Amino acid sequence: MKILLKNIKELLQIRESGLQKVAGEAMNVLPSFKNAWLLLEDEVIKDFGSMNTLAETSADKIIDCTGKMVLPTWCDSHTHIVYAGNREQEFVDRIKGLSYQQIAEKGGGILNSAKKLQATSEDDLYEQSSKRLAQVMRSGTGAIEIKSGYGLTTAAELKMLRVAKKLGQNYPVAVKTTFLGAHAVPTEFKGNKDGYMNLLITEMLPKIAQEKLADYVDIFCEEGYFSVEDTNKLLTAGNSYGLAAKIHVNQFNAIGGVQAGVVHDALSVDHLEVLTEEDISVLKGSDTMPVALPSCSYFLSIPYTPGRKLIDAGLPLALATDYNPGSTPSGNMNFVVATACIKMKLTPEEAINAATINGAYAMGLSDTHGSITKGKSASVMITREIPSYGFLPYDFGNNNIETVIISGKIIQ
Ligand code: NIG
Ligand code: FE
Repeated sequence: MKILLKNIKELLQIRESGLQKVAGEAMNVLPSFKNAWLLLEDEVIKDFGSMNTLAETSADKIIDCTGKMVLPTWCDSHTHIVYAGNREQEFVDRIKGLSYQQIAEKGGGILNSAKKLQATSEDDLYEQSSKRLAQVMRSGTGAIEIKSGYGLTTAAELKMLRVAKKLGQNYPVAVKTTFLGAHAVPTEFKGNKDGYMNLLITEMLPKIAQEKLADYVDIFCEEGYFSVEDTNKLLTAGNSYGLAAKIHVNQFNAIGGVQAGVVHDALSVDHLEVLTEEDISVLKGSDTMPVALPSCSYFLSIPYTPGRKLIDAGLPLALATDYNPGSTPSGNMNFVVATACIKMKLTPEEAINAATINGAYAMGLSDTHGSITKGKSASVMITREIPSYGFLPYDFGNNNIETVIISGKIIQ
């Protein structure tokens, strides 16, 4: 199937193949063609150019993009979209004055979601999660990372990862899966964190590796959850099974998680709402991608990751949603891009780079996603008629994405 997009007002994020990520000042550049065409063939980008170079082409479908922008679909490198039920009650508790940490201490939070998920059948969990996946695809997400971490027993963690894998098989979106058994210490192991660490390393990890259910390993490195020592142990074990790390660090406290991630060559360190000068200098000279999750900051009313500072220090930055029932019940990357501009002072160019090519890097997908490049996945979105791409974050909260094509399939 050939799809030709013609009369594109501006075709954005055109890159040479091989580019893995952009950092520092280069993030402020968004290469584009004005008045362009783009040809998709089956699942890949076949060719593109300026309208004056468009030869007679036979296509099965021609889409006139007059007045509209075309860009690669969003790459959401951090989500927890496989979960059961919701945590609406905790939302109200927070409105009434309790903090996220106080709710967790009362047995709410991650443990609340784990209880619900353990009691939910695999089929039901798939049904609930697939609705969320379909929704984020419609808003322009073409590649997504999905974590476990609401199971907290071997059976329930495996169930979550099987559901995530199945979503990747049944939908055109690219899915990467991450084992986050170390999300919280479950009730049965209260006061015995080492016992749970042992279960994670000697039982869950080997099974998950054997069944090839995860691409990456993650841990919530935070006061009251898992220590730097736990992080070192788990990442070492993960590496021995070939699982690179993508970890939750510095959400509420800087306890050395960034350093631990860099030592273990983590693919990404995510959250970073609380960041020290030392964290920034450790990230320099590493291949680890810092990932900001501005919707989480918005929803929990916690500080925003100092993205401006990271980019000004010459570092790369990726943006992701963190879609989960507790801290971010939203998977809309358009809101993330707008909030990064509004609250973190990223320019539209920086935010779009962070949500496309750098997001792809943060899930090991730079070779296939995140830019308009011949041979990459035919995953693109067409905007409504808008004056410029800066209008996307400016017009926050309004949907300016008209058509989404993922892996050559037009999403309805
Ligand atoms: O990334 N902070 C750790 N994990 C999730 C939230 C989990 C939850 O509250 O259910 C996050 O924000
Ligand atoms: Fe998260």
